[in-house]
Amino acid sequence: MSRIGAPLDNGSDAVMRNRQAQQQLAERLKKRMDRILQGGGPEAQAKLLKRGKFSVRERISRILDPGSDFLELSALAGWEQIPGSDTPAAGIVTGIGDVHGQPVIFVANDPTVKGGTYFPLTVKKHLRAQEIALACGLPCVYLVDSGGAYLPMQAEVFPDRDHFGRIFRNQARLSALGFAQIACVLGSCTAGGAYVPAMADESVIVRGNGTIFLAGPPLVKAATGEEVEAEELGGADLHCRRSGVADHLAETEIEALEITRRILSHCPPRQRADPRRAAAWEPPYFSGSELPALIPDDIYRSPMDPRQILARLLDGSVLDEFKRLFGPTLICGFGSIEGWPVGVIANNGVLFSECAAKAAHFIELCCQRRIPLLFVQNISGFMVGRKAEAEGIARHGARMVTAVACAAVPKITLIIGGSHGAGNYAMCGRAYDPDFLFTWPSAKISVMGGRQAADTLLQVRQDQLKGQGREALSAEAAKAFREPILESYAEESEALEASARLWDDGVILPQDSRKVLSQALRICSIQRPPSDTHFGVFRM
Ligand code: COA
Repeated sequence: MSRIGAPLDNGSDAVMRNRQAQQQLAERLKKRMDRILQGGGPEAQAKLLKRGKFSVRERISRILDPGSDFLELSALAGWEQIPGSDTPAAGIVTGIGDVHGQPVIFVANDPTVKGGTYFPLTVKKHLRAQEIALACGLPCVYLVDSGGAYLPMQAEVFPDRDHFGRIFRNQARLSALGFAQIACVLGSCTAGGAYVPAMADESVIVRGNGTIFLAGPPLVKAATGEEVEAEELGGADLHCRRSGVADHLAETEIEALEITRRILSHCPPRQRADPRRAAAWEPPYFSGSELPALIPDDIYRSPMDPRQILARLLDGSVLDEFKRLFGPTLICGFGSIEGWPVGVIANNGVLFSECAAKAAHFIELCCQRRIPLLFVQNISGFMVGRKAEAEGIARHGARMVTAVACAAVPKITLIIGGSHGAGNYAMCGRAYDPDFLFTWPSAKISVMGGRQAADTLLQVRQDQLKGQGREALSAEAAKAFREPILESYAEESEALEASARLWDDGVILPQDSRKVLSQALRICSIQRPPSDTHFGVFRM
């Protein structure tokens, strides 16, 4: 048994400093989440209640199995992304929880946020949920209560490939694969939005609150002069008795949610015969509650042995390392999380050529054995410089990137510190389709560190001036030149900001990570359609 990790030196200055810094990050996250959970604010919530509606998260919890943990995704999305408009959670709650014992993905409009309309990030979040459904083989439940496209931004939500229309195309494709598409219409469902229930396998609508139409009464009047009330134009009676657009009429919201739950009981579980979870497992030997004390302020700069982190995430703190003595700045090994087997790849410094070769080999092993991969990112990038280039670091890196891109096993990425340069790519960043990508509040994501970017741009500027025969920037002017770059890098790369742009599936606290990773491994292991990995051409 290869137990890793070492006890924490509780009395040390570093541990106290780390705890304090993590506490501040956690408080900032909590403050933001408290605001996000209020949706459009108390007034909008009161309006909802008056209409006999539940809040968006209450709707979801009433469909879930009692006691089921709901893994909410990207709750921070949309934060301060539209000047002048507050869009908590991007106006749409997505996440995964169990119904009748099998994981189901929910996509639920929040009508308190600008009438549940679709901003660019709302569309991105909806599509991301469908992407997860496709990868993991999940049934989808759409809780619809939306005014459709956010009209002032139609150019950014309507016509392009990954815009509004893609939602309905995805419904058709997911249904074709046998992944149930269930819509429950609890409010407005206008224009393009009308296609969500229309494209669903089965749909439910609430009398009085639910409406489905291609154009609402004001637009009908403008277009044809016809005057008609919303209920008559597209209410529950019309759609369940005459048009056939909806299948089940509910008198109340509670009833609609119950019917939705009942519909899911008819969707057979698609569980794989061999989800290879161990029947029993041990908790980590070292407690996960110690994780915040282990994260240095500048985790991306200070050397930190990731074994200390893994020792607090893996069952029994056990990691069977692969090629421990070769390419030691990348750790590869087999372990498990709450019984789910996992192949771990974790950074322990800069990526060298031999690390990339080792990773490619390890990924091949995991693919052949159908073991999910967990990437733990804290990476400044690949090694640069004359020696590295001459030994072909670009081709070695390409080999690792090929392996990551083609691996058909479930992939989960956890960014705990820096995530920069091609290191972000090779360690299964967002562009490499990890099934789930979570970040810690200490994460920083950018093409390079702010200091390196400022120095690079300053060097380019000084070279330009020299080429023009002009005087170089003085120390003071150089400082003024660097400062705004440092500021924008510091702000943009920060975990909460990255999550607001939906570069991840959520920011999680270090001490919650084991539970979240276990949920994620279960979700992408039990229903995922099996597939063989076919790698492309590996450079020698
Ligand atoms: N685009 C932009 N903003 C919209 C919008 C849309 N499609 N639909 C609603 N809003 C805004 C409203 O202007 C209002 O903004 P405010 O809070 O800054 O005043 C907010 O969303 C809430 O709308 P309100 O009408 O007060 O809420 P409601 O719960 O009574 O009704 C709707 C919500 C969605 C039923 C109603 O606003 C509506 O019918 N909207 C038009 C829908 C439509 O025709 N969409 C076509 C899209 S292709």
